[in-house]
Amino acid sequence: MQQKHYILGINASPRKNGNTETLMAKILTGAKAQGATTETVHLRNLRIKQCLACEGCRVSRTCRLHIDDMQVLLVQLKAADGIVLGSPIHNYNISARMKIFIDRLYPFFSFNPENRREWHSLLPPRKKGLIYAVGENPNPKQAGVVLEAMRLPLETLGCEITGEFIAAGFFEKQAVLKDEALLEQAHNAGVNLVKSLI
Ligand SMILES: Cc1cc2nc3c(=O)[nH]c(=O)nc-3n(C[C@H](O)[C@H](O)[C@H](O)COP(=O)(O)O)c2cc1C
Repeated sequence: MQQKHYILGINASPRKNGNTETLMAKILTGAKAQGATTETVHLRNLRIKQCLACEGCRVSRTCRLHIDDMQVLLVQLKAADGIVLGSPIHNYNISARMKIFIDRLYPFFSFNPENRREWHSLLPPRKKGLIYAVGENPNPKQAGVVLEAMRLPLETLGCEITGEFIAAGFFEKQAVLKDEALLEQAHNAGVNLVKSLI
């Protein structure tokens, strides 16, 4: 029997029951409908200190400076077949929590000691990714660089992005629930993420 795919969702909104969280639930419902096992991590509930750029993880392959919740998250990320990153748009960019999380992925980089411009990813191959962001302003220009800020680091680690979208024009908590088309888009994105793994 084929093992169930494991989809890990990372919600980077500081707001409990916010729009990012609501859409994450829809995406993961879609993934579950395709038979996947899903898990959501709310970064706001974790203790993840910011990278201090000591570069010690280049040698130790792990962060020895901060023994915090990122240690477990790195193991979960290695195990995941699909990774969903969701962030609110904060000042045209990802939230501060998402940025701290992404910087702490540095132990997944293996650098050539002879030439630090050469490296390869220690994140196991064939992972697929889905990224999305939620913003208040309906003008897509106000989303700034939010998708790039998640797409580029995931791709750099060898994770292929199978879908991405911006939910624009939402402010109040759970405002996205009023937009049926968006909810369907989120559900389908979860379905397609799992389909891309089969
Ligand atoms: C500090 C801060 C900065 C924001 N910057 C933007 C922005 O640049 N563009 C935008 O469209 N919305 C911006 N917003 C609005 C949020 O993205 C919006 O309220 C969204 O629904 C938040 O998602 P959440 O409900 O998951 O927290 C900002 C909100 C905050 C608190």
